[in-house]
Amino acid sequence: MSIQIPRGTQDILPGVVERWQYVEEKARNLCKRFNYKEIRTPIFEHTELFLRSVGDTTDIVQREMYTFTDRGDRSLTLRPEGTASTVRAYVENKMYGLPDQPTKLYYMGPMFRYERPQSGRYRQFVQFGIEALGSADPAIDAEVISLAMAMYQELGLKKLKLIINSLGDQESRSAHRTALTGHFAPNIKELCSDCQNRLETNPLRILDCKKDREHPLMKTAPSILDYLNEESVLYFKKVQQYLSAMGIEYQVDSRLVRGLDYYSHTAFEIMSDAEGFGAITTLMGGGRYNGLAQEIGGPDTPGIGFALSIERLLLALEAEGIDLPISKGIDCYVVALGEKAKDVSISLVNELRKANLTVEKDYLDKKIKAQFKAADRLEAQFVVVLGDDELERNSASIKNLKTGNQEEISLNEISTFLLENKEK
Ligand code: HAM
Repeated sequence: MSIQIPRGTQDILPGVVERWQYVEEKARNLCKRFNYKEIRTPIFEHTELFLRSVGDTTDIVQREMYTFTDRGDRSLTLRPEGTASTVRAYVENKMYGLPDQPTKLYYMGPMFRYERPQSGRYRQFVQFGIEALGSADPAIDAEVISLAMAMYQELGLKKLKLIINSLGDQESRSAHRTALTGHFAPNIKELCSDCQNRLETNPLRILDCKKDREHPLMKTAPSILDYLNEESVLYFKKVQQYLSAMGIEYQVDSRLVRGLDYYSHTAFEIMSDAEGFGAITTLMGGGRYNGLAQEIGGPDTPGIGFALSIERLLLALEAEGIDLPISKGIDCYVVALGEKAKDVSISLVNELRKANLTVEKDYLDKKIKAQFKAADRLEAQFVVVLGDDELERNSASIKNLKTGNQEEISLNEISTFLLENKEK
């Protein structure tokens, strides 16, 4: 049997890859406008990094990581997300000492989680994420959220729902934790064995349980919003005020807890409301993580960011029936008739490509009709025909396939002619 692609991964072939390139370009362009600079970190890290940051009671760490021992007996893990690596690199490279603060970074690349594959959920997926480190100003929370919204809105998506919550500071979270333990403890046997463990290790994770989501105990669980101290309440109010100032609509949902341990204060997700989107409607998630840099050995640094997968973004575009304005077609196809013409075509094609034109020719000794067909399929705007008669006159005939116009142009003027007449 032939070897097949691993479960939960995809080949992205020409014809589809252009959509990826389009949205990746949009992400880079947005980051430029918001002044976030790209950071590239390794695909694998020491396993310890994710245990300490994502948290050892999370689903990601407990069952989804691709962890292996290398030949030097080190435990390494394919990165399941980008925040931990970014903060590790920020600390390791002492970026907190750079003159321009906060440090605003973005990344785009493959992440790996051993999840049950389905539409919108892969084992290898590409995250685009941003992280702003070094500011505890609620205005930066609003900026991060606004960049995420802009990413979807500028691509034409309309059926979006922004959900925000506050997980509060350490004091608020520990008060909430005590309340959660008090709420779940008497009836914990009604919940799954994972939740029973979570009661001891991290009761907040119970609210994130996929199995017991609908259990009545979940609906009556104490809300974090009732346990926020004054400072946390004020912080959350400011974030909301700034979102409103930017005209960004949102809903507060106290049940939004996120699946990673490093969050404090602001947490948010953008969901798709589009019909037929499928079971997984979360397009993007993020939040503030003020203790993370310190947790992995750096100075006490506030941080906030988000990540989205390109896969889910493309699914959302499909669900809303949005066609991306991807330019197809090439500028010119060079048809050569006979040996002498073939020789000329080699240098002509080279010259045209150097002039920044998109050019193709035949490499399979096709007949003239088949070469014209190929030009059609490639949606060439022009066909340059090199035939014996024209070559005698050091020229070629150029046909505009869109208008049907045909004219004879001398060989050394072809690139200028094409540059002047091609569609932009
Ligand atoms: P997350 O919620 O685990 O957060 O993932 C963020 C996004 O990654 C999801 O909303 C989804 O778009 C995408 N995603 C996650 N898992 C999969 C999957 N198996 N297949 C396809 N897409 C997936 C984080 O990763 C945090 N690091 C976000 C963050 C950045 N928080 C602060 N800064």
